[in-house]
Amino acid sequence: MWDDGRLCHGGDYNPEQWPATTWREDVALMRRARVNLVTVGVFAWSRLEPAPGRYDFGWLDEVLDLLHDGGIRVALATPTASPPPWFSLAHPDALPVTADGVRLHHGSRDTYCAAAPAYRAAARGIAATLAARYAHHPALAMWHVHNEYGTTCHCPHTEAAFRRWLVDRHGDLDTLNAAWATSFWSQHYADWAYVSTPRATQYLGNPGQLLDFRRFWSDTLLAAYVEQRDLLKAANPAVPVTTNYVLGDWVPVDHARWAAEVDLVAIDHYPSAVDGGAEEQTALAADLARGWARHGRLRSADPARATAPATWLLMESAASQIHTPGRAHTKEPGRMARHSLSHVARGSRGAMFFQWRAPTGGAERFHSALVPHTGADSRVFRESVRLGEHLDRLAEVTAGETAASVALAADAASGWALRHPGMPSELLDGHAELAAAHRALWRAGYGCDVVVPGDPLDRYRLLVLPALYLADDTTAGWVRAHVEAGGHLLVSYLSGVADPHARVHLGGYPGAYRDLLGLRVEEFHPLAADEQVLLSGGGTGRIWSETVQLHGAEPVGTYVGGVLDGRPAVTRHRVGDSTAWYVSTRPDDATYRRLLTEAARTAGVHPVCPDAPPGVEAVRRTAPGASWLFLLNHTDRPQRVPADGLDLLTGIPADGAVTLPAGAAAVLREHPR
Ligand code: GLA
Repeated sequence: MWDDGRLCHGGDYNPEQWPATTWREDVALMRRARVNLVTVGVFAWSRLEPAPGRYDFGWLDEVLDLLHDGGIRVALATPTASPPPWFSLAHPDALPVTADGVRLHHGSRDTYCAAAPAYRAAARGIAATLAARYAHHPALAMWHVHNEYGTTCHCPHTEAAFRRWLVDRHGDLDTLNAAWATSFWSQHYADWAYVSTPRATQYLGNPGQLLDFRRFWSDTLLAAYVEQRDLLKAANPAVPVTTNYVLGDWVPVDHARWAAEVDLVAIDHYPSAVDGGAEEQTALAADLARGWARHGRLRSADPARATAPATWLLMESAASQIHTPGRAHTKEPGRMARHSLSHVARGSRGAMFFQWRAPTGGAERFHSALVPHTGADSRVFRESVRLGEHLDRLAEVTAGETAASVALAADAASGWALRHPGMPSELLDGHAELAAAHRALWRAGYGCDVVVPGDPLDRYRLLVLPALYLADDTTAGWVRAHVEAGGHLLVSYLSGVADPHARVHLGGYPGAYRDLLGLRVEEFHPLAADEQVLLSGGGTGRIWSETVQLHGAEPVGTYVGGVLDGRPAVTRHRVGDSTAWYVSTRPDDATYRRLLTEAARTAGVHPVCPDAPPGVEAVRRTAPGASWLFLLNHTDRPQRVPADGLDLLTGIPADGAVTLPAGAAAVLREHPR
């Protein structure tokens, strides 16, 4: 199986794009790079079933045998993200329809509707056929269902399924009408048949309807995954099943909710930033993945999973070029390894890539690969060989759990709700708020976990709610219980303002937390994109500001100038031995960092490696009686870091300090403390 104790190295392998002579070279090169896991067949449906019911498995049989002989395990994909041309011709009703009613056509990938019965039946069919043939193949390490669930649809099949989902969720129309506040703009529904998906419409759509549609679609995609998973499991229950999560606000998938349904959380990560932001984005993606893994572990019925470290897998990343808007950026030497180690430090069971070999044709021919167009005599391939060696030396870290005393709460629905165009500012972005808080903690060197409302908080000294917009009584009670148990809290603007249907809590914002925070927000003052407010102490705030009235809290910082001059911007409220902070604007990065450092200090939390120089990232994994310190030098100068232990990458002991060359990393097995 996949868990043979090693870290995984490899990526998407598309042998169907190459002649058989190349397969042999591939296996030889994979062995050189110590590749031990490849995803095969993700987009191979039209080569596996070129015409309805006519299968061609000869090439896949040969490839799997070759890989097995080479000691390389396979994450065998079900190819359902790209139905073949014959399917779309035979089932035009299964092609997706956009919100403005345009039916999309074959020619790219992902042109299917996940609610269309013909698509679902065909997907089950090819999954079952693959399961029957390969479920006991010795190369099979895991099943990789589909690819990056995330496309959406507004066709009649979707509409009918949406209504059924709404009946399940709301029970009766009165409840639905209340949840969606349909008395506004004459949207009251007197019959389920009147309810549609949120199509393109004249002006602002209904926030409750949009939110429910997102939830419904996440559940629909999940059901499509689960039915494939169940077929694969039925063929061989011992083989784990997963799917690769794609990240981004546009993705209509609640990954936390999915986490208990996958045997292993797997993510794809392609940072959009090219400067230092890429490292921050990498750290956040990995912390999110670990949070989902932990959330899934809590809900898993598998006792082995319940006690093991929260494990997940970086299923895809870029070996070199990062596709940023408008151009591709080539990763600098060493950067791919640091990103990979950042993921491993945060719980990934390895570092996998899209893709093994760069193709000559096809839409993504210029996407980077472990074997680039240049071939194996290339910097990128040499770096992947070195990464393979390093991953081999790090197997023991899998025993450790990434250490964190700060929790950041995130939930998908809050992010979706904040994007409604009827919000008081078009600059609101839940992921950006999470990222800003995470960045501040990352730069200050704190380890943090991302948690889902309701997850246990006993291991955290500080809980941060970054614009966690939606809260019902359960979420409010969860936050309160953390504070009453002695935990500290930092809440940023627009947290707890609305209920799970995006209806505003009355009586002053933020309705869910104002007592805990000792304040009441009376009015919002959103800022223009190019506007900022000055804060006492020299910082600035962007995006948002508010009239905060104190009801027990004390001001820590105030607005300077403008209509809010002298009024509280940041506050602190003592609750027993705990402190509950409130931040009513988006502070600039340095100010946010100072603030979170102060909140962490008050909570008794220390940075992972307090004396690490700026630009050196430190992450620790711990197990009973053991710990491993990952040090990543993101600067272009050598850096000396106080630390003790044995560097597993070089085999050189660090006695009091380790000197990291520019752009290099060390992973220390620390002396027992
Ligand atoms: C995703 C997909 C891959 C490929 C890469 C390109 O991760 O899963 O098939 O398209 O993006 O970045």
